[in-house]
Amino acid sequence: MKLDKMIFKRNKNLKKERILEPIEAIKNLSPYSPTSSMDTINERIEQKPYKLDWNEATILPSPKVLAAMNKYLSGMNHLNWYPEILSKSLKTKLSSYVDLPEKNIIVTNGSDDALELVNKVFVNEGDRVIVPIPTYTHFYVHSGQRNAEIVKIASPDVFKTNLEGVLKAITDNTKIIYIVNPNNPTGVMYNEHQIRTILTRAPHAIVIVDEAYYEFAGISMSHLIKEYDNIVVTRTFSKSFGLAAQRIGYMVASDMIVENCMKIFNPKSVNRLGQIAAEAALDDIDHLNSYVKSVTEAKYILKRYFLSRGIEFRTTPANYVLIQHTMAKTLVQLLQDEGVYVRDRTSQMDGYIRMSVGTIEQTEEVMEIFDRVLDKLEKIERNSFN
Ligand SMILES: Cc1ncc(COP(=O)(O)O)c(C=O)c1O
Repeated sequence: MKLDKMIFKRNKNLKKERILEPIEAIKNLSPYSPTSSMDTINERIEQKPYKLDWNEATILPSPKVLAAMNKYLSGMNHLNWYPEILSKSLKTKLSSYVDLPEKNIIVTNGSDDALELVNKVFVNEGDRVIVPIPTYTHFYVHSGQRNAEIVKIASPDVFKTNLEGVLKAITDNTKIIYIVNPNNPTGVMYNEHQIRTILTRAPHAIVIVDEAYYEFAGISMSHLIKEYDNIVVTRTFSKSFGLAAQRIGYMVASDMIVENCMKIFNPKSVNRLGQIAAEAALDDIDHLNSYVKSVTEAKYILKRYFLSRGIEFRTTPANYVLIQHTMAKTLVQLLQDEGVYVRDRTSQMDGYIRMSVGTIEQTEEVMEIFDRVLDKLEKIERNSFN
């Protein structure tokens, strides 16, 4: 019998009801929903947008970054070659920036990539992953794809840490404890003593400290990798460095964790332009510092403004603030009509919206818009009572 006929005959014997399916964990997984203002902004070309919904930087990266990218593109750019393996040059610069050896750093495609990597390498099906909530919800997808049991720890007060709740939830099969420091969206921070307590009480689990907003908060737990084998600190160039579009993040961890992650990490996955951009960004720390200073001052200006308007307002150590309003959804819509895009967080926190903070100048412009919008909102509220 001819070969193709033989194969045909064998295929015919396959069970008819067999259908193509993803793995069990993926079947049950809800995707992360990237609610972004980008489409609306692109539709309204006549309007000046204030994109304050995703905690990105509100200014461009350092001119040195743009110069380095232009230089690369206009010279012998080697776009036809794979990127520098394992982001070697960037890692050398990062090593000075974080004051830790290169062997303890992995450069990733944004810090999301690092969060996923740690889950892939350490979480078995059914392992427990502890997450104080509210949190950065994209993380659920990373643990969800491992079919982990995600244990969400609510706090009696969302604006306070819940060390006791976290410690109580630790079991023998706990594999990850995910702490966002400062937390997105609440701004809550676990202090070093609390992190040390968690690390000590769960030596069999990895404590991920997500420091996406480190540069704004100025407090890091990265030095703890010298003492603890079970801590991973993730950071990013997407926020204070203004490089969200380039997707550069990194993690720092003990030799044991890095060595295991390197078994599956794709050494050519980080794009070359991103590497070049991040290296140049680290060469201009003055640009970073001046932006962080401006954002910090702008948060105080906003605080005074909302106080004067009698609106419930919370600042955070990161580059976003929270505004509470009984008509939060209408507020989001009215702001959007005026080109100010903020994030509705009412599903996570009663009546709260989250707004990124930019420079002092941008903040003054935003406050002018708020003035108009809050006046409108007051009218709507009054009419609804009549
Ligand atoms: C807490 C937190 N972690 C990680 C990320 C993702 O950062 P990256 O752009 O580095 O993937 C974000 C983005 O909003 C975040 O808020």
